[in-house]
Parts: sequence; structure tokens; C-alpha cells
Amino acid sequence: MFTKYITTAVVALSLTAGPVLAAGKEGKVIDYDFSFEGPFGAFDQNQLQRGLKVYTEICAGCHGLQYVPLRTLSDEGGPGFTEEQVRVYAADNFEVYDEALDDFRPAAPADHFPAVDAVGAPDLSLMAKARAGFHGPEGTGINQLLKGMGGPEYIASLLTGYTGEEKEEAGVILYENTAFPGGWISMAPPLYGDDVEFDDGHATDIENISMDVAAFLMWTAEPKLMARKQAGLTGVLFLSVLAVLLYLTNKKLWAPVKARAKRQD
Ligand code: HEC
Repeated sequence: MFTKYITTAVVALSLTAGPVLAAGKEGKVIDYDFSFEGPFGAFDQNQLQRGLKVYTEICAGCHGLQYVPLRTLSDEGGPGFTEEQVRVYAADNFEVYDEALDDFRPAAPADHFPAVDAVGAPDLSLMAKARAGFHGPEGTGINQLLKGMGGPEYIASLLTGYTGEEKEEAGVILYENTAFPGGWISMAPPLYGDDVEFDDGHATDIENISMDVAAFLMWTAEPKLMARKQAGLTGVLFLSVLAVLLYLTNKKLWAPVKARAKRQD
């Protein structure tokens, strides 16, 4: 019975690790520091706003975010837009197909970010989680456990990992990338540095904007990260109090028995 469970677990693990094993060569992921790491970590609202800007101006041309409702941009713990800002942002940047109108119209907060399937680029809504256990021995995601390295580190490493080498294979141009498993990716380097301008004057070199967009994609994949951490901490606190109470109750319950045992000695 037990062996059966183990086998199932091993099969499940190797299935998740499939793409890595198939590619053979593992990519190099840099352990970037993000504000949301650790038990007390939280998303940096300004960074999420910068990342959203990078996504909108650069990545959205090829990548959709179809599982993310635009209205969540004003949710607590997110980029912190006001409802009015969300309305303006949605209408200014995206168009959606409206079946009732049988036509395209400017996006509204109730819509999702559009899907993009023009160039075969994957949807990025959940990418930061899909790639969370991407690396470590045999793709078990052990580095995530030991070093807190996960999807955002992978995405930032991917964007900074281009070597400048290109090759053509079966009519497709591939770009050498040190983070991508297998070493060659069909996504042309999307960032060259100074690709966006930030109102807060934050640095716009490739590394900084890569981290900003990676943080934003972590938020799209795990918008309730902070709430979950808080629930976890409350749980730990609650269990600690419970443990103390149980210890004291235990002492009190057994006190007469122990006293009797002592008298008999
Ligand atoms: C010109 C189109 C284009 C742009 C712009 C672009 N990408 Fe991509 N991206 C692609 C394509 C195509 C793939 C699939 C590559 C492959 O599997 O070889 C891809 C793949 C990816 C992947 C998945 C890699 C993996 O592990 O499978 C991530 C993450 C990613 N892009 C992030 C971004 C981010 C972030 C931006 C904006 C800074 C961006 N991309 C801009 C076309 C683009």
C-alpha cells in the first residue's frame, strides 16, 4: 500500500518535472531578492506598478494575461490603483471583443486582461507559479524550499539571461539564454534597458525592469500571497497558544496521580 503511494508521488513529481528532463540541460537561475520573500514579506506596491507598466508596454504585445481580471488592480495588496485609475488604464490600453455588440470596444474593469495567441507566446497569468519548481535536482523545486528561489527568480533570470547569440533551426530563430532549460529560446530578447520610463525615477536597466515585471507576474499568479502568509502566521500563533494551554491542562490533570505516585515511593 505504502509503496503504491510512493510510486504515485514519484510519478507525479516526474510529470511536473517533464519539460526540464526532456530538455536535458538545466538553466541557470539567479537568486534575486524580492520584497515578498520570507514569512513577513509583502509585495512592494510601487514595484507592482512599475512591473505592470513593463508588461503593458512590452510583454502585452505577445503575451496575454487572460486569467487576471482588470478590476483586481485596485484590490488590497496589489498595485493599489483607485477604481478610477483602473477604468482609465483598461480603456486606454486594451480592447475586448463584445459579443453583444459584435464588435470590439475599450476594455472595462469587469473584463479580464486580453488573451494573445498571435505569436505562440504562452499566457503569463500563472507563469510565476508554473515555473516555481522549475529548477533544482531533477526539477523537484528543491531550491525553492532551501533558498526561497521560485518563479519570479526564473522569470527575471530569463529576461537577463540572453547572451546575444542566435541560430536558425528549421526556419525558427533561436536566441541563446542561460536561464532557459535547453539553452535556446524562440522569444527574441524583449528588453534592452531604458525600455520604459518610470514616474518615480526608478532605475530602468534590464535587471531592474526584469525584477519589476517578475514581481508583477508573481502578483498575477498569487494575488493573495500576503493574505495567505498572514493566515499562516495567525495559525502558528494560535497553535502556540493552544500548545501552552494543553501543556498546562495536562500538568493539572495528572497532578493528583503524580502526587499519589510520589507518596507511595
Ligand atoms: C515578440 C514577442 C514577445 C515579446 C514582446 C515577449 N515575449 Fe515572452 N515569449 C515569446 C515567445 C514566442 C515565447 C515562447 C518561447 C519558447 O518556448 O521558445 C515566450 C516565452 C516566455 C516565457 C516562458 C518561458 C518558459 O519557461 O517557457 C516567459 C516567462 C516570458 N516569455 C516572459 C516575457 C516577458 C516578461 C516579456 C516582457 C518583458 C516578454 N516575454 C515579451 C514572445 C514574446
